[in-house]
Amino acid sequence: MKGYRLGAIGIVITFFTIITTTVLLPMILFNPKPTGHGNNYIETVQANPARGRQIFVREGCFYCHTQFTRLQDRGYGPLVRAGDYVYETPHQLGTARTGPDLTNEGGKFPSQWQKAHLINPRALKPGSIMPSFSYLSDHDMNDLVAYVQTLGNERKVTHYVEAPEEYKASLARKTVDTSSDASGNAGRGLYTQNCAACHGQSGRGNGPNSVSLEKKPANLTRPFYKQYPDDFWFYRITEGVPGTRMPRFGEVLTEEQRWYLVAYVKTLQQKNEQTVDNLSELDKIEQVKLPVLTEQEWEPASGGD
Ligand code: HEC
Ligand code: HEC
Repeated sequence: MKGYRLGAIGIVITFFTIITTTVLLPMILFNPKPTGHGNNYIETVQANPARGRQIFVREGCFYCHTQFTRLQDRGYGPLVRAGDYVYETPHQLGTARTGPDLTNEGGKFPSQWQKAHLINPRALKPGSIMPSFSYLSDHDMNDLVAYVQTLGNERKVTHYVEAPEEYKASLARKTVDTSSDASGNAGRGLYTQNCAACHGQSGRGNGPNSVSLEKKPANLTRPFYKQYPDDFWFYRITEGVPGTRMPRFGEVLTEEQRWYLVAYVKTLQQKNEQTVDNLSELDKIEQVKLPVLTEQEWEPASGGD
C-alpha cells in the first residue's frame, strides 16, 4: 500500500513539474515587446480584414497553412520574430505545411486571383489539394481575401538567411560597382535574356514561363527586397533557389556578368507593395501591352485564295 502511494505522489509531482516548466513559466516570463511589424488590419470601404481573420480561423485554414518563417525557409520572405504576434489572439502559427506558408502572402497575387483560387483552387493550380471555399458568401470572401492581402505587409526585415561565407568573400573580388546606374544598365540586357522569361521584364514574377511553374518566380519588385545585401543577391543568382526552377547561373554566366545582374535587380524594387483588385489592371502597372494580333497571326485564314 505504502509503495503505491509513493508512486502516485511521484506521478503527480512529475505531472505538475512538466506543466509548470512548459506552460506556466513561459506564460509568466515570456512577454515579447511589440515589434511594430505585426499585421495591420485596416478596415476599408470594400472589406474588413479583421473580420476576414475570424473567417480564416473558422474555416481552419491554419490546418494546412503556417504563418511563421524560419531561418531555413526558402522563398517565404522575411523572418518573423516573437513580437510580431502580440496582437494575434488566437495566433495562427499553425504546425503543418500541407500548403505553403502564408506569412508574407499579402501582395503576392492580385485580390481577384486570391478569390478565384479560393473558389476553385484547381483552376489556377492544377493538381492542388486545397479544398474549394466556393460556399462562402461574397461578403465573407471579400473580407477573407482582404485579410490574406494584409499578411506581411507591415513586416520589415531584420535579418535573412545569410549567404554562405564563400559568398561574403566574393565581395572582396567584386570588380563591378553594383550601385551605379551604368552597371544597372549593363545588367539590364543580361536580365532580359536570362531572367525576364520567368521573372517578367519589370520583375513582377509574371513572365510568360511563370504560368507553368508550380513555385512561382520571385516578385523582385516587392519593397522588402531592398534590404538584400549584394552578397545575398549574388549567392541567389549563382546558386539558384533549391526546390524551385530558379536556375544556377553560376554554371552559365561569368562572375562579372552575375555582378551586373545584381546591379540591375537592385533597381527593380518599388517603394510600396503593389496590389491590383482587378486582373485587367495588371497591364496598367506593367505598362507593357501585349501586341494586338491580327486575325491572320493567330489563325491562318482558311480556304482563302
Ligand atoms: C526558369 C524560371 C526562372 C529563371 C529563368 C530565373 N528565375 Fe529567378 N527564380 C525563379 C523561381 C521559381 C524562384 C523561387 C521563388 C521563390 O522562392 O519563391 C526564383 C528566385 C529568384 C531569386 C531569389 C528571391 C528570393 O526571395 O530570395 C532571385 C534573386 C532571382 N530569382 C533572380 C533571378 C535572376 C537575376 C535571373 C536571371 C539571371 C533569374 N532569376 C532567372 C525562376 C526563375
Ligand atoms: C487541406 C489543406 C488546405 C486548407 C484547409 C487550405 N489550404 Fe490553402 N493551400 C493548400 C495547398 C496544398 C496549397 C498549394 C496549392 C495551391 O496553391 O492551390 C494552398 C495554397 C494556398 C494559397 C496560395 C499560396 C501561394 O503563395 O501560392 C493561399 C493564399 C491559400 N492557400 C489560402 C488559404 C485560405 C485562406 C484557406 C482557408 C479559407 C486555405 N488556404 C485552406 C492547402 C490548404
